[in-house]
Amino acid sequence: MERTGPFKGRTIAVVNDLSLDEQHYLYAKARELKTLAKSGGDTSAFKINDRDYQAYLIFMEDSTRTRESFRNAAKFLGCRTNVFDSATSSFNKNESITDAIKMLYGYSADSCFILRTKLEGVCRWLQTALASYAETSGRPKPGFINAGDGKHEHPTQEFLDEYSFLEQLGWDESNIHIALSGDLYHGRTVHSKADGLRIFRNVKVDLVAPELLSMPPYYMQKMVDNGFEVTAYESLDEYLASGKVAPIWYFTRLQLERMGESVLEKAPSLRKSVTFRKDMLGLVPEGARFYHPLPRDRVNPTNPTFLDSLPLNGWDAQSENGYWTRIIEIGMLSGLLGHDFEGEFARQEELSENFIQETTPAEHRKPEYKVGIKPVEEGIVIDHIAVGKPIEEIWSSIEAVRKILKLNVRSSHGVYHSLRGEGEYKGIISLPDIISFGEKDLKKLAAIAPGCTLNLIRNSSVARKYRLSMPPRIYGFGEISCKNENCISHPSHSEGVVTEFVHKTGSTFICKYCEREHPYRDIWDI
Ligand code: NCD
Repeated sequence: MERTGPFKGRTIAVVNDLSLDEQHYLYAKARELKTLAKSGGDTSAFKINDRDYQAYLIFMEDSTRTRESFRNAAKFLGCRTNVFDSATSSFNKNESITDAIKMLYGYSADSCFILRTKLEGVCRWLQTALASYAETSGRPKPGFINAGDGKHEHPTQEFLDEYSFLEQLGWDESNIHIALSGDLYHGRTVHSKADGLRIFRNVKVDLVAPELLSMPPYYMQKMVDNGFEVTAYESLDEYLASGKVAPIWYFTRLQLERMGESVLEKAPSLRKSVTFRKDMLGLVPEGARFYHPLPRDRVNPTNPTFLDSLPLNGWDAQSENGYWTRIIEIGMLSGLLGHDFEGEFARQEELSENFIQETTPAEHRKPEYKVGIKPVEEGIVIDHIAVGKPIEEIWSSIEAVRKILKLNVRSSHGVYHSLRGEGEYKGIISLPDIISFGEKDLKKLAAIAPGCTLNLIRNSSVARKYRLSMPPRIYGFGEISCKNENCISHPSHSEGVVTEFVHKTGSTFICKYCEREHPYRDIWDI
């Protein structure tokens, strides 16, 4: 089969990079392959058998299962397989990831990169950076697979987990009731569940973790937004006492390597509240199954070894499924698979760039705005800055607008009563020496003071008035940066990433790469 399938050169940085239909396709293909292979059938339709297709495994963080299942998957597929040893590479000579990948990309006609990194959002960045490089060099775009990035996501673990749940539920996608227990804060596999579980129509999630290890609000909200019924418990004891216990349990270990000192100190007592004990066995529903992404801690496992020989043990079969699902993932991205796909493709969310709206200026006989005591005759007035916000916030917005737009010109500014009502205030900046704003500055202004109006003053009255709302994307400005130190775009990593934020809801933005939520004022470096 020619490698021209519709998933060729795609990237799987997060679960949602595959649409639900594409995820169904992945599970159906993995099931077909596993059944064929187990019954000694002909699996040749699942093989690439082309040494010009290269799978590059780059593991910059420890891994056994994920790396080895990908390596074996690539071997099964019959492609050139390279395991890049980051310990002895130029990364230690301070080379950027971007440069290293460009170099490796040059070694084969067509390739896919499987990366595990401490830094978050690496695959999303490389997807962007290498796409333009591929275009200029006239070669096929490489695919990227995120094999775990910091505490962000682990989409391919998610796909093998969902595959395992589907297998357990007899491929019935109508309902799932699942308990997620352990380190829900630092564990990326449970974060990916906020999207991966959407494969089921009705989802009930019980979160079992002490507060310090609880699910971050971003993922919790995502679960709620995705229509999941979510209940949180502080410990397994509390959960079991509720009497509403799920038949599927997903354990995770404490992610000690990602904990700060203060949490690390408390690890033993935190672990206790999410460790299964023999006396709990009678409280687990009949036919229940326990899963775990593995590895488990050999000294203090949250799912202890006395469970290994019980029918509850679902994790051994689960880890095998990593092999089958990862063969299909590489197969899809190589273009080998997908010719028979009939569903909806994943779509890039369309973002409207419409954040500037012209409104009709009110009729005024008297000159409306002043510079000090003098009316503005010609120029620009920025009005309604942080309207309705507390006075200090209005002052700090004025300061931010002045600093970021470098308004070092003759002007005046202040906090005034708003016509909205008693006790409501707004900021105004009058700029008699400026007669127009460039698009970039308008966008900046909208992003610093959403809701403000820009008034063009001619002959002492408002000739045109524009209302600026929150732009859907903020990117490419030198004054913005992601505040997550583990994000690939964080300035400390010097990867040359173009910072980009996407408007989420209200006044929050998420980083395009690591998806960290930022209140909009936090994206600015002032
Ligand atoms: C997980 C990971 O690396 O996030 N392991 C894995 O991929 N099998 C979970 C873990 O390390 O605890």
